[in-house]
Amino acid sequence: MGKCYPTVTEEYKKAVDKAKKKLRGLIAEKNCAPLILRLAWHSAGTFDVKTRTGGPFGTIKHPAELAHAANNGLDIAVRLLEPIKEQFPILTYADFYQLAGVVAVEITGGPEVPFHPGREDKSESPPEGRLPDATKGSDHLRDVFGTMGLSDQDIVALSGGHTLGRAHKERSGFEGPWTVNPLIFDNTYFKELLSGEKEGLLQLPSDKALLSDPVFRPLVEEYAADEDAFFADYSEAHLKLSELG
Ligand code: HEM
Repeated sequence: MGKCYPTVTEEYKKAVDKAKKKLRGLIAEKNCAPLILRLAWHSAGTFDVKTRTGGPFGTIKHPAELAHAANNGLDIAVRLLEPIKEQFPILTYADFYQLAGVVAVEITGGPEVPFHPGREDKSESPPEGRLPDATKGSDHLRDVFGTMGLSDQDIVALSGGHTLGRAHKERSGFEGPWTVNPLIFDNTYFKELLSGEKEGLLQLPSDKALLSDPVFRPLVEEYAADEDAFFADYSEAHLKLSELG
């Protein structure tokens, strides 16, 4: 499964392996897996399958794209990763950020999402407004993920990324974590979603939309009951997301 990128050299493959180890160290030390996963997702999630613009091509490091409202706070992730990137000038930013996203999931106990190198760096950032709006419902989610070329199942599985991390009032206007263990990648997000709102835990309107939609809800129930099913579908969806374009 996965995309067929141009073959990379042995030297490039070695750099990927080494960078992966350095990323594990950094992400563990700084406890920044959630922010790094959000960086990888926001980098890829701008892809438009019709115009074949946007996507995981390293453009998110440009100040203009970092200044998009949806990317508030991601300048911190770019800065945190830079000292490692500097050690591997052979790697593209496109590959490096997606590799970091895969490591963030792995190191917090999530599935091992396959990683294939070979993305190029592009110079042009996508226009603002392609990432999802947390105040909206299922039609909007289908619109945004459909533009990327992703399915209903991908929407629900990928929303499970909110098992990690938290919202910050000063970045998004929302506050708080989705689960009580925001540095562990498991299926708690779905369990919490089904068990209703709780003091101290967050459910965005876009998270709650998964409960009221007749196609999304059975998947939420399945993932809450069966972590292996969640990991299998998450891994497939994350791989697709990371290889858009
Ligand atoms: C379904 C549509 C989605 C919406 C509307 C959405 C919205 C948001 C919002 C508002 C935040 C809070 C940002 C902040 O204040 O720091 C956030 C954080 C986060 N999102 Fe999403 N998101 C979506 C999908 C995803 C996906 C697909 C992933 C990854 C697979 C993801 C991973 C994360 C992570 C890990 C954080 C926590 C970041 C941190 O702790 O700093 N989200 N998201």
